[in-house]
Amino acid sequence: MVWDAVRPTLEREADKLTDTATTLSQAEVGGTLALDPDFVVPSNVETIDVHLMPGSYHQESGNADLRAGSMYDNGLSVFSFGLMGKNLDDIGESIALWVKEKFADFHPGAILDMGCTIGHNTQPWAKQYPDAAVTGIDVSAPCLRYAHARSQAQGVKVHYQQENATQTNFADGSFDLVFSSMFLHELPKKDIRAVFKEAHRLLRPGGLMLHYELPPNDAMNAYDGFYLDWDSYYNYEPFYKGYRDLVPQELCADAGFAPDSFFQTVVPSIGWYGRDAVIESLTGEQAKDDNTGRLADGVKWYCYGARKAK
Ligand SMILES: C[S@@+](CC[C@H](N)C(=O)[O-])C[C@H]1O[C@@H](n2cnc3c(N)ncnc32)[C@H](O)[C@@H]1O
Repeated sequence: MVWDAVRPTLEREADKLTDTATTLSQAEVGGTLALDPDFVVPSNVETIDVHLMPGSYHQESGNADLRAGSMYDNGLSVFSFGLMGKNLDDIGESIALWVKEKFADFHPGAILDMGCTIGHNTQPWAKQYPDAAVTGIDVSAPCLRYAHARSQAQGVKVHYQQENATQTNFADGSFDLVFSSMFLHELPKKDIRAVFKEAHRLLRPGGLMLHYELPPNDAMNAYDGFYLDWDSYYNYEPFYKGYRDLVPQELCADAGFAPDSFFQTVVPSIGWYGRDAVIESLTGEQAKDDNTGRLADGVKWYCYGARKAK
């Protein structure tokens, strides 16, 4: 119903959308788009309609098609009931501010967002760290086309590149910060482990890895756990359960991060509670708060990460 609510409009406007995106992409903002015509879309995206989204993330007709990106943008607005803000960037806005305040002496020059889809949670990093080069990667060409046009239209400089996050084409130590949002739970377990190893490889010494995700099982009550399993089965989210069975601390340590560099927290939504609430959250240890995300009475984002040894 979510996708059906937006699809007829997008189909009707598809040609106009393509033309508008082409014009917007040429705006003098400085963002870039790099697609690989020989790219092989991995099976976790290619073989299923992820969360019942028709055509999944990647299906396209011709090399200017960006309907999948548009469908995600509009469908997520319906799905999230405004929880993620008008620009769908509340997660990125909240967490980027939290990082800036928490790691005041950290000045990333290059930032990577893995599984960026339409770049809605990539853009906040470029705004929070205007001197940094910000790159968003994804396997979906139509979503990346849309992301590029969307960022250019909003005047935010981001570089989008078609890459598989389990094994990218970037050199060792290319980034200071590797981020992902709502990404890991859509991967098979072996790919999740590969993504963590890749993040470790891509980080410079002292670099920061950070993932926003579903809260861990032991921070969730039985009903919420059941609800996610229900969603997994009936909403084509076959990797939810596997992801939730993994332990964040172990994933980080197995990828080479020092165990004592692990951290986890719950960041209040900047849109709902304001900037001060995000900053105040730094003074309390809220690591195990089961009142997170869409499972919550309030709106808070669970995230965790680690730092690469210097
Ligand atoms: C739920 S969306 C992420 C949403 C977005 N990051 C956000 O904050 O809302 C998952 C994205 O991961 C992408 N993806 C799946 N497997 C991938 C892989 N191996 N490498 C890179 N991107 C991948 C999908 O194409 C999709 O765009």
